[in-house]
Amino acid sequence: MFEHVQPAPPDAILGLTEAYKADPRPGKINLAVGVYKDQDGTTPVLKAVKAAEKALLAAESTKSYFPIDGPAAYGRAVRALLFGDADPRVDDGRARTAATPGGTGGLRVVADYLHVNHPDATLWLTRPTWANHPHIFAAAGVTTQAFPYLDASGFALDFDAMLAALREVMAGDVVLLHGCCHNPTGVDPDIEQWQQIGDVLAERGAVPLMDFAYQGFGVGIEEDAAGLRAVAERCDEVLICSSFSKNFGLYNERVGALTVVAGSPDAAAAVMTRVKQSIRRNYSNPPAHGLSVVQTVLADETLTKQWTDELSAMRQRIHAMRGALKTGLDERGVRLAPTGNGFITAQRGMFTMSGLSAPAVQTLRDDHGIYVVGDGRINVAGITPGNVAKLCDAIAAVA
Ligand code: LMR
Repeated sequence: MFEHVQPAPPDAILGLTEAYKADPRPGKINLAVGVYKDQDGTTPVLKAVKAAEKALLAAESTKSYFPIDGPAAYGRAVRALLFGDADPRVDDGRARTAATPGGTGGLRVVADYLHVNHPDATLWLTRPTWANHPHIFAAAGVTTQAFPYLDASGFALDFDAMLAALREVMAGDVVLLHGCCHNPTGVDPDIEQWQQIGDVLAERGAVPLMDFAYQGFGVGIEEDAAGLRAVAERCDEVLICSSFSKNFGLYNERVGALTVVAGSPDAAAAVMTRVKQSIRRNYSNPPAHGLSVVQTVLADETLTKQWTDELSAMRQRIHAMRGALKTGLDERGVRLAPTGNGFITAQRGMFTMSGLSAPAVQTLRDDHGIYVVGDGRINVAGITPGNVAKLCDAIAAVA
C-alpha cells in the first residue's frame, strides 16, 4: 500500500516552522506561524492560565469523558464573550455551543456538518484567506468558492467588489468571514460595512460562518466582537468558530468552540444533535485541559481581570512592533506600498500583508534566515526590539 505514496508538499505555514527549526543559522527569525512572542522572543504561558491550572490540578477528581459537546458552563462562557454577558442569546437557547479542539477543529466540524446535512451548500471564502481554510472544507467534501476582498493595491478592502459578490451567493450558501483581524491581511471592514454585509447575507438567505480567532488582538475584547454582533443582529442563523489559541496563549492545548445560532431554540437544539454526530464520528468528545482553563479563568473575576490585562499587554506590544517596523522601513527609505508604509500600523491583529513578492520572500529566507509566509504575510507578533533592525535591513535588501 505504501510503496508508491508520493510525499505531500510542506504545509504553507506550519511547514515553514519545520524548515526554520532545521535551519542551523544563528540569528534566524520565524515570522511565519501566528504565535505571539514577548519582547524577549518567548511565547509565555499567561499568568492567569498558570493560576487556573494550579486550581484545576488541586480540584481535579476524575478524568472521565466530557459530554460530546463539552461542559455547558464552558459553552455559556464562550457565548458571553461572543455576544456580551447581557445578551439574551447567552442563555435563551437560540445559540448553542460545542467545545472543539481549537478553531481548526471547529471549522472541520462545521465542514463535516455541512457535507452531511447541507450537501448543496457552497462555502464562500475571502480571497485571500487563511491558507488552511480551503483545505479543511475540501477534505470534508464541501464545495468552496472565493470572493474578492482586497483591491488591486493589495493593501485595502475592495468593499464594493466584495458586496457585489455577496449579492450573488445562493440561499443556503455559507459565507466564511473573519470576525476581526483578518488573516492574512489584517484588513477588516468597519462597523458600517459589517452592517451592510449582514444586511446582504440576510437578504440572500445565506449563513455567515464567523471565524473568530483573534478576539482582543485588534482593539479590545468588546470592540473586536462588534462586527460579529452586527452580522448576528441581522442574520437569524449564524455559525461561529472561536479559537483561544492566541488570546489565551493556549496554542498547544487546542481549545476552541463552535456556536450555532438559529431562529429558535428548537432549531438550535436540532442542529446541535447533528453537530454532535459530526463530533462523535470525528474525535468523539473534546479534550479537557484547555477548555477547563478557559472556563476557570472566565468564571473568576480576578482571573478574568488578570487575563484581560495580559491580553491588553500583548495587543499593545504588537501595536508597538507595527510602529517599529514602519519606522525602521521609513528610515531605510523602503516603501512597501505606493502610498508608503502606513498600512502596517493601520492593519489589525497579528499579521501584516507586506506586499513582498514570492521571490523576495524566498530571498529573505535563503540569504537572511528570516521566515515569512509565501504570500508575504509577516507575523508582527513575532517581531521584537532585538530583531526589528535585522528584519528592516533584510527587507531593504530584498524589496
Ligand atoms: C496562522 O495562521 O499562522 C495560525 O492560525 C496558525 C496556523 O495553524 O496556521
